[in-house]
Amino acid sequence: MPVTNPIAAVTGASSGIGAVYAERLAARGYDLILVARRADRLEALAGRLEAAHGVRVRPLAADLTKPGDLEAVEAVLRAESGLTLLVNNAGNGKIADFDALPVADALDTIALNVTALVRLTHAVLPGFRARNAGTVVNIASVLAVRALAKSAVYSGTKGFVLNFSEALQQELKGTGIRVQAVLPAATGTEFFDHAGVPLSAYDPAIVMTAENLVDTALAGLDRGEAVTLPSLHDEGLWKTVDGAHAALFGAAMTGVPAPRYRA
Ligand SMILES: NC(=O)c1ccc[n+]([C@@H]2O[C@H](COP(=O)([O-])OP(=O)(O)OC[C@H]3O[C@@H](n4cnc5c(N)ncnc54)[C@H](OP(=O)(O)O)[C@@H]3O)[C@@H](O)[C@H]2O)c1
Repeated sequence: MPVTNPIAAVTGASSGIGAVYAERLAARGYDLILVARRADRLEALAGRLEAAHGVRVRPLAADLTKPGDLEAVEAVLRAESGLTLLVNNAGNGKIADFDALPVADALDTIALNVTALVRLTHAVLPGFRARNAGTVVNIASVLAVRALAKSAVYSGTKGFVLNFSEALQQELKGTGIRVQAVLPAATGTEFFDHAGVPLSAYDPAIVMTAENLVDTALAGLDRGEAVTLPSLHDEGLWKTVDGAHAALFGAAMTGVPAPRYRA
């Protein structure tokens, strides 16, 4: 029997974080399905990775905000019985006051960061369930835990990605299926070219390279983390915040109006 490689699908693989995931996963021996709109970039990357790592790479040009393209990608992922890893990485966001943002841009960000991520996860889970194996990596953002001005829609979508991932983790507990949410802080990619504020506007000291971001996120995955904050040095801080959210949730389960609201 020929040895077959596990297959990973990476969305947004034509640049930045997704391109580094593609490279690192090829180095780990995955065959790849690479999704983005820029076919030329995907094909060049596929050629490089096949030559360097001896894996099979399938470029899949698709605009994940277009229902027809999204359906085509869903069909490919559903049909691929060797798929063991989905990296939901494609994302965008404009940095602008909400009421200055054309509503079409807001809806485009929601379609890519939320709708496509949900639909692709929904497409792979039945196969993962049937094989009781598989991993979904969802690229959120630190803005998932701290919404900022000029990023109302983007912060909202990334909060969705974190909540969605954490609920799925509970549903899949005890199975062979894992979900990891990755929360990058500022990372040096083309993201900012599209966001409307250049990367040069940020303090270089707070910007991580895409290579460090992905290597750290993969180390978090290897450690079995459910939520990975690659640039957070004090791990205890995340545990404190997560514990505080759990305590707040429990404390809200009283069924009785709080005294401060009584006349
Ligand atoms: N950079 C940061 O500071 C930072 C921080 C936190 C979180 N993140 C998140 O990290 C993820 C990756 O972003 P990045 O920083 O690597 O930015 P990037 O270099 O701009 O990469 C975005 C990727 O998404 C793809 N993409 C964009 N629109 C698409 C569409 N409609 N359909 C299919 N693919 C599409 C792009 O390819 P095409 O243009 O070829 O389609 C590209 O491959 C995003 O989810 C982002 O929100 C980034």
